[in-house]
Amino acid sequence: MSVLKIEGGRPLNGKIKVQGAKNSALPILAATLLSRGGCEIRNCPRLKDVESAGKILAYLGCRVKRDGDAVFVDTTDLDRFDIPDGLMREMRSSVIFLGAIVGRAGEAKMSYPGGCELGPRPIDLHLSALRAMGVDIQEEGGMIICKADKLKGANISLAFPSVGATENAMLAATAAEGTTRIQNAATEPEIVDLQDFLNACGAVVRGAGTNMIEIQGARNMYPCKHDVIPDRIAAATFLCAVACAGGDIRLEGVNSTHLDSVLSILAEAGLRLEVRGDTIRAAKISGLARVGPVRTMPYPGFPTDAQAPVMAVMATARGCTIFVENIFDNRYRHVGELIRMGADIRVEGKVAIVNGVPTLSSATLNSTDLRGGAALVVAALGAEGESCVCDVNHIDRGYESVETALLELGAKIKRVDE
Ligand code: UD1
Repeated sequence: MSVLKIEGGRPLNGKIKVQGAKNSALPILAATLLSRGGCEIRNCPRLKDVESAGKILAYLGCRVKRDGDAVFVDTTDLDRFDIPDGLMREMRSSVIFLGAIVGRAGEAKMSYPGGCELGPRPIDLHLSALRAMGVDIQEEGGMIICKADKLKGANISLAFPSVGATENAMLAATAAEGTTRIQNAATEPEIVDLQDFLNACGAVVRGAGTNMIEIQGARNMYPCKHDVIPDRIAAATFLCAVACAGGDIRLEGVNSTHLDSVLSILAEAGLRLEVRGDTIRAAKISGLARVGPVRTMPYPGFPTDAQAPVMAVMATARGCTIFVENIFDNRYRHVGELIRMGADIRVEGKVAIVNGVPTLSSATLNSTDLRGGAALVVAALGAEGESCVCDVNHIDRGYESVETALLELGAKIKRVDE
């Protein structure tokens, strides 16, 4: 088990390139199943979740190889349509393979993702979208068994703009006869990236980035090369790190328009931000102050994935900041750990009231989940003394060697295997 030892209070300086987006890479790796042959996915981050997706592809019979930042997937010999429970549990979002496997093979079998560290993770919207396209779905003893003699295009209206359900519907629709329209679709940048990948493989998908996506299915699909978009949440995390620790950093290879809602909150707090092309410079010139309520919302609203790191920043900002978590039920698990560092935070249902304190102190901390763990690293960088962040495996699911990037910026951080 690895832990991160972090000596706080050292300002960050210098530049780093931001990794490719985990939440784009995963559905795109699943989408490689829709064509026969070898795809090359570039700017594909080296993460535990990406490794898990690779293991699923390999189990299904694909050849998977990494070379630098590229992952090659050859789907020619795909010969299985099920995902074993052990692999499903490695990564809850493996449900994204459902639409792709059904699209390629007309059948799929996998275990139910069940609850996770963010609370219950229902997939009713995924399943009803697939049923609308003619998939017969039986749920037996925690297994989902899908069969479709023929997938057909459908009008799907999502009750909530779920990212995963939108992706699953897009994947299956690519293989369906006729046109599918997804209304109230998620509009996240990762959905646009998936559309771009599918179109590069010969699909005809329009409207991603708006709440109506149209897919003309059953086109001849072929493999392609694709560059994954930059990870907006990793970028947001590094901005939070400099907001806590102080200093002056430059992030390279980012798309700042994907970060509008996060940039405006951090600018309001007093972080100096300068966007130029695909770089963002962030400097902490003085102490930060409270911001208006931070309400997590579907894109382009404030991302739930950035809630915890931004809360770590607000823990030492002057005044009181209110957070409202609207997306997940159980996304304040980092709060208890921040309180151990001296933060003044009260949670009432989906609301967290953060009263800024002058400083946080070092502590031994448990990563509770991916973004919660990242928030503890951010807080520790600004705290007095040496903190120890345990259960780093959560953080490794989404950040490409977080300590290497922070070391480059001058942080005093080391990974210790215990
Ligand atoms: C994706 C992201 C995750 C991010 C989340 C919200 C990936 C791999 N993960 O997760 O990092 O935090 O979007 O931006 O891209 N819901 C239902 N029924 C469903 C599906 C979802 O009720 O069938 C609910 C969920 O419980 C949750 C909300 O909808 O409350 C949003 O979930 P969703 O957008 O589906 O998130 P994910 O795709 O799981």
